[in-house]
Amino acid sequence: MAATRTFSIIKPDATRRNLTGAVTKMLEEAGLRVVASKRIQMSREQAEGFYAVHSERPFFGDLVDFMIGGPVVVQVLEGEDAVKRNRDVMGATNPSDAAEGTIRKAYAESIEANSVHGSDSDENAKIEIDFFFKPEEIVG
Ligand code: CMP
Repeated sequence: MAATRTFSIIKPDATRRNLTGAVTKMLEEAGLRVVASKRIQMSREQAEGFYAVHSERPFFGDLVDFMIGGPVVVQVLEGEDAVKRNRDVMGATNPSDAAEGTIRKAYAESIEANSVHGSDSDENAKIEIDFFFKPEEIVG
């Protein structure tokens, strides 16, 4: 199967605890290659736009506040079946449900402060990559 791409965010709870390298190591060990990466401070408008699909959910306001509460690292990851590979190594959204050996089991603090985001489909991966990266910023 050919390599595909997915989009990842290392969230503010993880950057605050200096876990950028530790999280990235787990991604790489899962067979994913970082083909783009930048540390940014998301604006409220960016966070609201990125999470627009959740705008009617009760946790939306808190989610946006959390995501702009500190720097994040946005990344493009490449590998065989990248979306699924990344979701497998991230673990369940709620760390209390996350399996041993996953990033969220190792590092997440709560369902909100859950250390990483990953695209849920190839279609959304493309949308999310395009939201944060210009084509020339991605070097495979
Ligand atoms: P993420 O993959 O970034 O997509 C939406 C985020 O909303 C999710 O991870 C969680 O961190 C966050 N979130 C906060 N509260 C909830 C909740 N009750 N159910 C699902 N997601 C939640």
